[in-house]
Amino acid sequence: MKLKQTLENKFSSSLEKIKGSPIREFDTYASQFEGLIKLTLGEPDFDTAQIIKDAANKALENNRTHYALNAGVLELRQAVADSMKEKYNVDYGADEVIVTVGASAAIEHTISALTNPGDTILVVTPYFTLYDGCSYLNGCNVGYIDTLESGFKLTPELFEEHYAKYDNVKALIINYPNNPSGVSYSREELEELAAILKKYDIFVLSDEIYADISYNFKHTSLTELLPEQTILITGLSKSHAMTGWRVGFVLGPKLAIQKIAVYHMFTVSGIPTFIQDASLIALTHPNSVAYTNKMIKVYTERRNYLIPELKSLGFEIDAIDGAFYAFARIPEKYRKKGTMEFCKFLAREARVGVIPGNAFGSIYKEYIRISFAASMEDLQESIRRIKEII
Ligand SMILES: Cc1ncc(COP(=O)(O)O)c(C=O)c1O
Repeated sequence: MKLKQTLENKFSSSLEKIKGSPIREFDTYASQFEGLIKLTLGEPDFDTAQIIKDAANKALENNRTHYALNAGVLELRQAVADSMKEKYNVDYGADEVIVTVGASAAIEHTISALTNPGDTILVVTPYFTLYDGCSYLNGCNVGYIDTLESGFKLTPELFEEHYAKYDNVKALIINYPNNPSGVSYSREELEELAAILKKYDIFVLSDEIYADISYNFKHTSLTELLPEQTILITGLSKSHAMTGWRVGFVLGPKLAIQKIAVYHMFTVSGIPTFIQDASLIALTHPNSVAYTNKMIKVYTERRNYLIPELKSLGFEIDAIDGAFYAFARIPEKYRKKGTMEFCKFLAREARVGVIPGNAFGSIYKEYIRISFAASMEDLQESIRRIKEII
């Protein structure tokens, strides 16, 4: 079907600000190679736990097929609040939680609810694409805070330096454990950050969707240290291998949640009821908790395998605190090529697919992201293949 020609230039001008994704460019290129091992995906290679699937089936049989409340099934929101109390000793009520279509919608609704066109959102890089994409769609400016020189971590100094550079800063977006760097923050580091952020009238969107997949230290949530400014983004996609179920959560002070709920109401009006019932089981049933722990054990084994192997091949890589990605600096002799050419080289010559670092910030042109949400066999075979060509 062809669009009426005179309508071709009538779309939202904010769409023009969305840049072409290096991931898509690379994906199109890599798809032509047969036998490619894909270490590109940001999703668990595990299937969802049986107990959660059973709960969804049971909910369907019980005709849990009608509209749920806009903000979500009350028992689920209460379970989310309870799990926050248990993990971080923070007090949220069920009315301070919204169940969203994945963490993605939580990010979008939050940015929509907080901003006016012309506001600036500070985004800590390396970053997940939605942060600037949703900001641009809402007519905001984006100030990127690059962390190449600070071990991929935001410091109080970096924050203040960037805050001073922009007008109308409305919010800061931070993600830890970080996709793609795997970096997380100690409690002390977060305390230092919180002490500075408290001085400014800005919201802090803290995307902690990988919190449960932490290896090096117990995750500290910003909600513990900066509760009055923090909007927490989380969900079940990563921790519970539930990417396709599309379950996310947004938590924050009641007034902020009421505002975000308006955007949720006028776009989604509640996620499927039977999926929320299954999500309740995901959060509360001991078998589900055990399944998550089992996945974390497997990710730990893969991480422990991958880091020394990559180092022995000439990649530079630091500790991985959480999530399931290795963000590695490419071996010196390939740095001039840049990350896109290097990724194409790996795909073409080794049949191994990884993501170019500049997909997560233009400065990361000497880095690649390797997902270890892939089987140990695939990881071992990938290392063997890369060894052969570099
Ligand atoms: C940091 C981060 N936040 C949010 C999301 C989106 O999660 P969901 O699939 O629940 O929308 C992802 C997915 O890759 C992510 O890596």
